[in-house]
Amino acid sequence: MAFHTISVTINHETDQVVVPSNMTLMQMLREKMALTGTKNGCSAGECGACTVLMNGEPVNSCMVLAVECDGARIVTVEGLAGDKQLDPIQDAIIQAGGVQCGFCTPGILISSRALLDRNPSPGEEEIKEALVGNLCRCTGYARIIDSVKAAAKVQLVQAEL
Ligand code: FES
Ligand code: FES
Repeated sequence: MAFHTISVTINHETDQVVVPSNMTLMQMLREKMALTGTKNGCSAGECGACTVLMNGEPVNSCMVLAVECDGARIVTVEGLAGDKQLDPIQDAIIQAGGVQCGFCTPGILISSRALLDRNPSPGEEEIKEALVGNLCRCTGYARIIDSVKAAAKVQLVQAEL
């Protein structure tokens, strides 16, 4: 097995990491960096539980090789909150009761953050489209969608301050 040294920025800190050729980004985050907020639901690109931001775009980290992350910026659910403040989408999903078992929640938070970064005022269809790759088997999606709407409102108010 070949090993590679990559330089990757994870949650705003840049590190050199030695990874085997066949290690996925999800495995690197969970097993080498102890960032276990990124969940392994299927290892097959189907459930979205492992979603992280790679250079600002949501990706299924089980479908990305760690070696492909050389020079990349990765944000995991652990990197969403500021020093003393949750991301508005984290606050909103708690307030709206959009978390049940929570297994899918990290991926939903990341996909929602990516949506709100590119579209600060998404409509319901745009929210559904952004979350189409994030499966939650606990419930309907109504409260999750409400959370994204609420976070968008908070974010717009914060932008005006
Ligand atoms: S664990 Fe990656 S999509 Fe399911
Ligand atoms: S909260 Fe349980 S799978 Fe989504």
